[in-house]
Amino acid sequence: MTERSAIHARDVRRVFESRKGFFFNELIRTEALRGVDLDVDHGEIFGLLGPNGAGKTTFTKILSTLLIPTSGSVEVLGLDVVRQAAELRPRIGLVLGGERGLYNRISARENLRYFADIYGVPVVHRDRRIQEVLDRVDLTEAADRRVEEFSRGMKQKLHLARGILHGPEILFLDEPTIGLDPKSARETRKLIRSLVADGVTIFLTTHYMFEAEELCQRIAVLSRGRIVARDTVAGLRKLVGGDRTIEVEAYGFDDGEIQRLNRLPGVSRVMSEEFGPRLRLTMRVRTDELSLEQVRAQLVNHPELAVRERRTSLEDVYLDLVEEEAS
Ligand SMILES: Nc1ncnc2c1ncn2[C@@H]1O[C@H](COP(=O)(O)OP(=O)(O)OP(=O)(O)O)[C@@H](O)[C@H]1O
Ligand SMILES: [Mg+2]
Repeated sequence: MTERSAIHARDVRRVFESRKGFFFNELIRTEALRGVDLDVDHGEIFGLLGPNGAGKTTFTKILSTLLIPTSGSVEVLGLDVVRQAAELRPRIGLVLGGERGLYNRISARENLRYFADIYGVPVVHRDRRIQEVLDRVDLTEAADRRVEEFSRGMKQKLHLARGILHGPEILFLDEPTIGLDPKSARETRKLIRSLVADGVTIFLTTHYMFEAEELCQRIAVLSRGRIVARDTVAGLRKLVGGDRTIEVEAYGFDDGEIQRLNRLPGVSRVMSEEFGPRLRLTMRVRTDELSLEQVRAQLVNHPELAVRERRTSLEDVYLDLVEEEAS
């Protein structure tokens, strides 16, 4: 079979069964993934977004051979993640968030030596390669200190160093900047871009919308085990009804006013929410035709009216999609 995409997943399902109750006699069945299809191209940065418990980590683990799907098929770099896992593993890197998976009593450099041996990095190149990745994640100064002395962010950087040590063709990053200070997070994003420039394909999950917007060509939104949208950021803005977001605030609006706003040219939806003592209407707008004056003209009985416009952000899109799914 020819290798179409870097990642090719079809109808992936994963069920977890766990026991609870005093005698562990109650069987709990969680459908973490309920039929996920996904294609990721070679050399792109693909972002997976979704609320807590949506299934992002589960899916990332399946793609990186750490977890076996209950059903469905996944090929990464043209290899089946279940049947050809051993062949695939040396060609991929995985960085899961959190503090586990490092040896605390030895130094960062010694940790990397250990992992280099596991990954089969040839001994002649090993120390040079370790120095290279330490430089790349900005850990050179701390390289010979014991990991137990490391801050959370330093450990996260060491995780990243471990993930790229063996020069993977595709890198899976589960919340790569979680716990990092703004400067380290920015350096990490820079590192991610430089890896892509070297030809690495990146699959990442994140809760930070600006991070996804800044890094990813394409994004998928996972909600309760299903992909609810998948597109470029521009495409997703269209999907939720427009590039423009107009916000209107006053002390209450009547239904007639809201209906009139809905009928204005290019308005795809009007949502209302309480905002302190005031009510805020958020309008998604598709066209440039509509002016703020036209909006004000519909709401002449509100002397305290505030009208502003901003660009629809990825966060708006995300919240619209996840709310739609929940309702
Ligand atoms: N080992 C496990 N045993 C039982 N249930 C599990 C297990 N791992 C995950 N789950 C369940 O599967 C669902 C998806 O979890 P997952 O960790 O993939 O979500 P996530 O999208 O990564 O969330 P977060 O944003 O909080 O990291 C959740 O309901 C979770 O409780
Ligand atoms: Mg997770």
